[in-house]
Parts: sequence; C-alpha cells; structure tokens
Amino acid sequence: MERSEPLDPMRDRHQPTRAALVGHARLTLVEHPLLATQLTVLRDIRTPPPAFAAALAQATRFLLGAALAGAPTTPTTVPGHSGTTASGHQLARRYAAVAILRAGLGMLWPMHELLPSAPVYQIGVRRDEATLRPDIYATNLPHSYAAIDHLLLLDPMLATGGSARAAVALLRAGYHGPLSILSVIGAPLGVQMLLNADPGLDIFLAALDDRLDDRGFILPGLGDAGDRLFGTQ
Ligand code: PRP
Repeated sequence: MERSEPLDPMRDRHQPTRAALVGHARLTLVEHPLLATQLTVLRDIRTPPPAFAAALAQATRFLLGAALAGAPTTPTTVPGHSGTTASGHQLARRYAAVAILRAGLGMLWPMHELLPSAPVYQIGVRRDEATLRPDIYATNLPHSYAAIDHLLLLDPMLATGGSARAAVALLRAGYHGPLSILSVIGAPLGVQMLLNADPGLDIFLAALDDRLDDRGFILPGLGDAGDRLFGTQ
C-alpha cells in the first residue's frame, strides 16, 4: 500500500519577522494595561468558554476604541436634567460591521453596545486545516453599501490571513470605502498578506505574535479561537 506524505501546509510560505511589520502605517498595535490583562486570560488554556467570551468582548472594546479614536463627530443637543439642554456629540459617519464566523461572533456584543445603530453582517469562513485554504460557507451581506461610510471586519485571529482575505475580496466586490480589521492576535504572515492585498484597509491588533507553526497555528497565540469560545474540539 502506498504511504501518503505527511501534510505540510506551511511549506513554501516565507514568514516575515515581527520587526518587519511593527511600525507599518496601517497597522495599529493597541496598548493598554487592561487590554494586556484580558489578552493574558485569552492565552491561558485553563480559561473556560464563558470567561473566554467575556475576555474577548472586553478586548474588542479596546480595539473598537482604537479604530474609532479619530472618528469625526457632529454636535447635538439632548434634554438634560431639570429642564436644561445639554450639548453633546454624535458620530458623523455611518458604520457597519462584518463578523467572520464563528469566532467573530465573540466580538459582536461590544459593537452593539458602542455602535448601537451599526448593522452587523456575517461571513462564514472555515479554514481547511490540511491546506489552510479558506472555504466560504455562508454570507449575509448588504445588497447595497451606499449607506455605509466605514466598514469594520471582526475576526479574533489573523493566521495566514487567508480567511480575512477571502472576506475582504467578497466585500470589495461592492464596497470601496475605508475598511478596518479588528483582530485580537495576528501573525506577521497574515498581517503582511492583508496589508499588501488591499491598500484601503487598516488593521488593529492587541498583539502581533511571533510566527505560525507547521500547522499554521499562531505562536504563542491562544489556540483555535472558535473552539475556545464555543467549547468545541
Ligand atoms: C480561525 C480564526 C480565523 C482563521 C484564521 O477560524 O477564527 O477565522 O481561523 O486563520 P487564517 O488567517 O489562516 O485564515 P476557523 O477556520 O478555525 O473557523 P471557526 O472560527 O469556525 O473556528
């Protein structure tokens, strides 16, 4: 019987160093002591799914805050206490999000909290663990992007970047405006691939890790975010 060769999906993929990406104009590494502690909870393999979900949501709040740090606002007024009128701000741009299933679901709730008027769409992408190629199995996207000024793509992990690139390609068929990817951990290879693939996107990460292992897992990483979130194997 013929013996099959062991799968080596990372063969022929040159991995850039971390240093090659740090400082890139369209890559933001979000730094905050509270984000660092949430990231530690996510990396800890003992963290059970509910605590993992909570830490992912907390981390997403920091990423969202960084991605919208320079967002323009317009003045508004609201009724205040004791019959007063209070002046305030509202966002000047219309945002929408696209979550990459499954793990991107863990980033949805902070979107609803902080951007309550932003619609949230989904793209289901499954990475084939043998070839590391993305397989799109579901899409729920807007018929028109005319009412969207800025799109946020949510996926906790950028490993080879294949899943996010497949999602970006789908979105770019109809959307040509600013696109920000919010992700907790990225590997240099995936980040470089995405930045090279689309000059109109920027990336916000809590951590840029060292590299991918032979199976395409981020090191040190946190394992498979979808499995960690949903308690699956
Ligand atoms: C994981 C992760 C990303 C993708 C990253 O999802 O959540 O979507 O892999 O890998 P890539 O950058 O090499 O494409 P997975 O395919 O395991 O699906 P899941 O979210 O349903 O677990």
